[in-house]
Amino acid sequence: MPRPKYHIVVCTNSRPPGHPKGSCGEKGAQDVAKRFSEELEKRNLFGGVMLTGSTCVGMCHAGPVVIVYPDAIWYQGVKAGDVQEIIEGHILNGKPVERLMIPESAWG
Ligand code: FES
Repeated sequence: MPRPKYHIVVCTNSRPPGHPKGSCGEKGAQDVAKRFSEELEKRNLFGGVMLTGSTCVGMCHAGPVVIVYPDAIWYQGVKAGDVQEIIEGHILNGKPVERLMIPESAWG
């Protein structure tokens, strides 16, 4: 298997309804992951791009969270409708989608 150029991690963690932390799962993360899979397939990008669903990555309030490596860009509040922009901007053209990035001020 060739080394992927990009690795997209979608937090798909779910918690029970009413849990104080909430979760990416309850905010539509499965739809986001599904859309990534569809778009990567459609563009024949699998192989060069790896897609992984993950458990909680610790930014539950900002979910759904998507992380793109090797750039270590963290996206927040990602909707299925944002996926095309991330693929076309970040994955295909190397330009992260700034409007969706978790701001530096969010990190402790
Ligand atoms: S549930 Fe997704 S970051 Fe915690």
